Amino acid sequence: MEFLELVKKRKSTRKYSLKPINNDTLDKCMEAARLAPSACNSQPWKFIVVKGAEKDRLVRESFNGVYAINSFVKKANILIVVVREKSKYTALLGGKFRNVDYSLIDIGIACDHLTLQAEELGVGSCWIGWFNEKSVKKILNLSKSTKVDVLISLGYPEEEYIKSKKRKTLNETREYFGD
Ligand SMILES: Cc1cc2nc3c(=O)[nH]c(=O)nc-3n(C[C@H](O)[C@H](O)[C@H](O)COP(=O)(O)O)c2cc1C
Repeated sequence: MEFLELVKKRKSTRKYSLKPINNDTLDKCMEAARLAPSACNSQPWKFIVVKGAEKDRLVRESFNGVYAINSFVKKANILIVVVREKSKYTALLGGKFRNVDYSLIDIGIACDHLTLQAEELGVGSCWIGWFNEKSVKKILNLSKSTKVDVLISLGYPEEEYIKSKKRKTLNETREYFGD
């Protein structure tokens, strides 16, 4: 698939079929994430593939109360917990100086690689930023120095459809400066 076509085709999928995703397919998505660029090549990430009964527990305990709005994740075959680790010292120092948290940018790129690879393999995905992080970290026994900013739900879509993108126009977002 041409890259731009893939980008246009990817959408947030919130309705999933029961078809399971096999490990080869999941590994390709993880591989795409692994190869993402990062500041000072810090690679401040780990991707935990949560499935089966553990996934059900995570959904039960991390998507209740105010987070129940995202309970569509119940039907996702897989939840990827994106763990943000400490960046390399050089990236941390440069980031402090510039007042930029490069690790968040790094995570964003890796997750985009992951979701685009999933799309290319016919797997639907949705970024999830609204969930109980404390509960996720407790269930997975993650150390205090880590952050979980986002999860990604994965599953084959219940139905195939084209969703038109609601985006600012090219003219609103692009500007040329110089000759
Ligand atoms: C960082 C981030 C957090 C998001 N959190 C959620 C979320 O908690 N629940 C949800 O349903 N969608 C979430 N989304 C999906 C966005 O709503 C979606 O990407 C946006 O509306 C554009 O739609 P599209 O992905 O179908 O192109 C999130 C997306 C990003 C990038």
